Amino acid sequence: MRIGILTSGGDCPGINATIRGVCKTAINHYGMEVIGIHSGFQGLLTNDVELFTEKSLSGLLNQGGTMLGTSREKPFKKKGLSDGVDKPALLEHNIHQLGLDCVVCIGGNGTQKTALKMAAMGLNIVAVPKTIDNDIWGTDFSFGFDSAVSIATDAIDRLHSTASSHKRVMVIEVMGHKAGWIALYSGMAGGGDVILIPEIEYDIKNIKETIMNRLKKGKPYSIVVVAEGIRTDGIKKAAAYIAQEIENETGIETRETVLGYIQRGGSPTPFDRNLATRMGGHATELIASGQFGRMVTLQGSEISSVPLSEIAGKLKLVTEDHDLIIQGRRMGVCFG
Ligand code: F6P
Repeated sequence: MRIGILTSGGDCPGINATIRGVCKTAINHYGMEVIGIHSGFQGLLTNDVELFTEKSLSGLLNQGGTMLGTSREKPFKKKGLSDGVDKPALLEHNIHQLGLDCVVCIGGNGTQKTALKMAAMGLNIVAVPKTIDNDIWGTDFSFGFDSAVSIATDAIDRLHSTASSHKRVMVIEVMGHKAGWIALYSGMAGGGDVILIPEIEYDIKNIKETIMNRLKKGKPYSIVVVAEGIRTDGIKKAAAYIAQEIENETGIETRETVLGYIQRGGSPTPFDRNLATRMGGHATELIASGQFGRMVTLQGSEISSVPLSEIAGKLKLVTEDHDLIIQGRRMGVCFG
C-alpha cells in the first residue's frame, strides 16, 4: 500500500510524534510506502510531497510544530469552484495520480469536516484528532492539550509568587475561543481562585465577592484564569477587560498576562508523546484493516475510532457537571 499523510490547521505539540507513529508503523510493520504531503491540503492541491524514508522520521518524537508544515486551506469552502479551480476535483485527481490508497489527515475540527467530505467522495481517509483546545467530539483527549495545560499551569504557578508579593490580582488569559478546557484544567491545576470559561456566563459581582472574601480571610491576592473566548463586551482581549472590571469593582491593583502562542509551541509532554504515538499507530492499523472514513479516538484508556460522520461539525464543550467544576465549586473556586 502507498499512503499519504498531511497536517492541517493550527500546529500543536505532538504532531511530529503522531507522524512518526503513523509512518514507522506503516514502513516497519506493514511495509507500506509513505508520502509526506506538505502544508496541509494546500500540498495536495499543488503536489508538494516527499517520499518518507526511516531517516526522514528520526529525531521527531520530542519536536514541537509539524515537520510537514501546515496551512488553513479548506478545499471545500466555496463549494466546488474557488480561485477558478475545482479544488475537490483537483484533490481527487492528485490523490489518484500519486497512487495513494489512503490519506491520513491530522487536524482539528476544520480538518475533520474536510476529511468527512473527502470520504464522502469515495476517497479512503483516516483522521487523527489534533488540538490544544481539546474540543473535538468523540475523543476524551487530543494530543497537544496536556502540553498546553502544562505550560499554562507553569505560568499560573509563576504568577502566584508575584501576585502574593505585590498583593495584586493577576488575570491570565489562555487559549480557547469556544471551549474552556485549557482554562479549566490549568486553572484547577494552578489553584486559580476564579476560572472563567466561554461555556459559563459570569457576573462581575460574584468575582468581586470571591476576591474580597479572600482579602477578609487574610489572602490579599488572587489568581483569575480566563479563556480567550469569554464575554468581553466588545473589548478585544479577555484578560484586559476582566482586569479592568476587577480593578474598578475591588480597588485592588490588577495586572493581566496573555499567554498566547507559547501554549502551542515547543516540546510535547510525555503524556502527549505517548498519546500521539498510540493514535498514530492506530491510524495505520485502521488503514491496514481497510477501515476508512474514521477518526482515531481515546475513550477512557482505550485507543479506538469512530466514523467521521458521527463527529465532524460537533464541538466538545465543558459542561457544568464536569467533576473538576463540581469539585472546584465545593472548594470555593468561582466559575462566574
Ligand atoms: O488551535 C486552536 C487555537 O489554538 C485556538 O485556541 C486559538 O484561538 C487559535 O488556535 C489561534 O490560532 P491561529 O492564530 O493560528 O488561527
